[in-house]
Amino acid sequence: MPDARLLGVAGFPVGHSRSPVMHAAALRELGLPWRYLKLPLPPELFAETVRALPAAGYVGVNVTVPHKEAALEVADSPTPTAGAIGAANTLTFTEHGIEADNTDAPGLIAALGEPVAGRRALVLGAGGAGRAAAWALREAGAEVSVWNRTPGRGRDLAAELRIGYARRAAGASDVVVNATSVGLVPDVREQQALEALGLREGEPPATLVDLVYSERETALTAWARQGGSAVVDGLEVLVRQGALSLERWTGRRPPLAAMRAAAVHGGLDIR
Ligand code: ATR
Repeated sequence: MPDARLLGVAGFPVGHSRSPVMHAAALRELGLPWRYLKLPLPPELFAETVRALPAAGYVGVNVTVPHKEAALEVADSPTPTAGAIGAANTLTFTEHGIEADNTDAPGLIAALGEPVAGRRALVLGAGGAGRAAAWALREAGAEVSVWNRTPGRGRDLAAELRIGYARRAAGASDVVVNATSVGLVPDVREQQALEALGLREGEPPATLVDLVYSERETALTAWARQGGSAVVDGLEVLVRQGALSLERWTGRRPPLAAMRAAAVHGGLDIR
């Protein structure tokens, strides 16, 4: 294997990812002469390119939209977490082959920073992000329900994970996680965003997590903060999942503060 140690993030598109700047800061802080690169891979090239990465000096890669399911398929061995969620965001190249892990789930729990066992958690959204969040909260012992704009999809996920299905997003929950793409579009105003999620009539929860990360505060986090909620933003979840991936690849304790600072201030070419 060449001397260079490489890491990266595979996605399509991947130009706006904050992972490179965040991991570069971490590697610098750890004194490791590794590099973390952007890998824009169209879906049809994903599997064959990933298989070629170890010979090119890659230790592992993060995987983002739209490759998280394909990442699980290309792996020789998935962790129980990745297998249960049906998606992987972290690939590690070892002498035994490609290992797939999912650090989104434990990253969310780490970002919450407080025990969720016995607490009522509501996940908004039943796509890939919603599924990982609901699974993570259920594993952590929360009483989880899922709400989704398209009810059938929400009901299917609830049945599969054996969690509750919420007819309404507004209501009594201790922790609400926005795992929908509402908030990704910066010009959606506060009321529209809340309305889209059916939250307008309700009280903000004790804790709100918005998996969307953006340069400015999202409409949802602004509403929750004003209502007195503890707010965990998408950047904190990004930092935590990245830290867990880095720990896996390097065996070193990740420098969280440096990663957070880089993720917040480091990239100007960001959404
Ligand atoms: P991901 O893998 O990131 O979760 P996805 O599978 O495309 O992406 O899921 C997007 C989620 O955002 C879905 O829960 C979607 O709801 P639908 O199943 O009804 O499509 C939700 N979503 C997208 N736009 C929305 C909107 N304007 N209002 C409410 N939910 C929305």
